[in-house]
Amino acid sequence: MSTGFSRKRADITFTQRVIPAAHVVGASAALPTSKAADATDANDDLAAVAKQIASCVACGLCAGRKMTVPGEGGMNPPVMFVGEGPGEEEDRTGRPFVGAAGQYLDKWIPSIGLKRTDCFIANVVKCRPPQNREPRPEEIAACLPYLVKQIRQVRPRTICCLGRIAAQTLLQTTSSLGALRGKVYSWQGIPLVVTYHPSAVLRETELRKPVWEDLKLLKSLLEPAES
Ligand code: URA
Repeated sequence: MSTGFSRKRADITFTQRVIPAAHVVGASAALPTSKAADATDANDDLAAVAKQIASCVACGLCAGRKMTVPGEGGMNPPVMFVGEGPGEEEDRTGRPFVGAAGQYLDKWIPSIGLKRTDCFIANVVKCRPPQNREPRPEEIAACLPYLVKQIRQVRPRTICCLGRIAAQTLLQTTSSLGALRGKVYSWQGIPLVVTYHPSAVLRETELRKPVWEDLKLLKSLLEPAES
């Protein structure tokens, strides 16, 4: 279904797709909630959310963490990258994407004409899952309200989901990453694109080409539309 919001760039043409209502993360009521995250004022600022995260015990991941990893970056960034959850280096430092995957992400960002410090970088879950396993549905549900608050406060121009967990969580779908990428979605009015997680691309070099296509799509959203 077309929205009429069609863009044409020198090397890429796409039509923003309106995703079925069931897949749109629109009303907060449709999102999983967590008592810990909901028991806060809607006007909390980012620092207040980080403080809530630091003392969060809403799921079992809190037991194994060294540090919470709320995310970092400025307000109104061109892109908010959303990953899965902290790894070992992130757990040690309290900063997102600073390990091998982060160093790889740092190489992607200049390809869309940005610096890391231009962007906001966050994760679906804010505590490291043991042995870097995928976060479980109940852990994602407990943590998601923090991410929702962060997106609403940060107000990014675009969102880029890094990997299946971030994409499925924000789009509230079980579709595969391969099926989700290559399109532009709307997350509460914010254009959202999906690409592979940097860790997956480090393991599987054939994913580099689709990632490059996804990054071009993301970059096209940041350019003024043709008249
Ligand atoms: N992988 C993620 O998804 N997030 C990080 O912060 C680091 C690695």
